[in-house]
Amino acid sequence: MTFKEKVTTIWAMFYSLLKPALFSMAPETAHNFTLEVARLCPLLGKLSGVSPDQRLGLAVGSLRWTFPVGLAAGLDKNAEALPFFAAQGFGAIECGTVTLRSQMGNPLPRMFRYPEEHSLRNAMGFPNHGVAAIRPRLCQYAHSAPLGVNLGKNKDTTAEESISELAMLYETLSDAADYFVINVSSPNTPGLRSLQEPGYLRELFRELKQRDSVRDLYLKIAPDLETSKVLELTQLARDLHLTGLIATNTTIMPERGVGGVSGVLLREKARAIRQVILQELGELELIAVGGITTPDDLFHLWRDGGKAAQVYTAYVYQGPDLLKSFAKALRGFCDEQGLSLQEFFQLPLSERRYRLK
Ligand SMILES: Cc1cc2nc3c(=O)[nH]c(=O)nc-3n(C[C@H](O)[C@H](O)[C@H](O)COP(=O)(O)O)c2cc1C
Repeated sequence: MTFKEKVTTIWAMFYSLLKPALFSMAPETAHNFTLEVARLCPLLGKLSGVSPDQRLGLAVGSLRWTFPVGLAAGLDKNAEALPFFAAQGFGAIECGTVTLRSQMGNPLPRMFRYPEEHSLRNAMGFPNHGVAAIRPRLCQYAHSAPLGVNLGKNKDTTAEESISELAMLYETLSDAADYFVINVSSPNTPGLRSLQEPGYLRELFRELKQRDSVRDLYLKIAPDLETSKVLELTQLARDLHLTGLIATNTTIMPERGVGGVSGVLLREKARAIRQVILQELGELELIAVGGITTPDDLFHLWRDGGKAAQVYTAYVYQGPDLLKSFAKALRGFCDEQGLSLQEFFQLPLSERRYRLK
């Protein structure tokens, strides 16, 4: 047995004991505990992570992701454990949502599990340390995988004030990350989703581009939009020369309670929204998020015309094994195709071949 195999076996034994303990805790307690371990022990990220493989890198916007699956926003809101998540093997890491001023978010409990359905519901409301505390952590990050920052308005900021607030946030962080995401799609900040309007977004992005026109800039959208609205926002993103769209945020399911649902319960809805976007994508990038749980979900995304993805809920349920299952399937895919992923994505859609379940 090689050293790496020994470490992997020990890790698997340790994790099989740790996982039931974590799932016996309240969801947010388990989350905070895990994040604290990740912050203190970045080496654990490497020991339990996937090994780098040049063939699995790909271009996303102006950046090179090291793996086609990145970490979605909301898990490391305060950028406290970036080295851990980079060492896990995520292709890119998105921290936040970051707001200008620190805020507590909504009252507890605000995170709920649906284990049989591999789903979560959250009503967090952007709890975060605020830009002044988070910026130094971004500046210390070694960028072994690209770093994104997801930006949002404070709860008590009006729609009118939010443009200058987001512009100030963007300017403050523009040299500290590789890409930025405007989040107007969380269901947990009152009135936020109503900002998914062309008039507002045109003004907002004009302001942002005046502050920095170099960094990759994305708009993250909700899965609960009408098809006509999704098409309108896709066209708008093209007109404004954004780098792309991130689709989707969590979905509203009032029968389950307040907040937004993620994971398998979101999968079909998010996929349908992405299929609409992909029809009209043009030069835009699409970062797919929402219910991506197995390598087959990724291959379906590729067949639909997509490329890069992010995960949150599946990582909560599967831990580091999630990335291992993707890495194994992707290495097999490259062997079978005789191509790296970058070469594969240069093929026209009609020439790509998949074996899907
Ligand atoms: C507990 C929790 C907190 C989240 N916080 C944020 C956030 O702060 N900003 C954001 O853009 N998305 C946030 N999200 C949404 C995720 O980034 C992602 O869009 C969504 O969960 C769908 O992906 P998934 O099905 O892989 O979880 C959060 C999701 C969860 C479960």
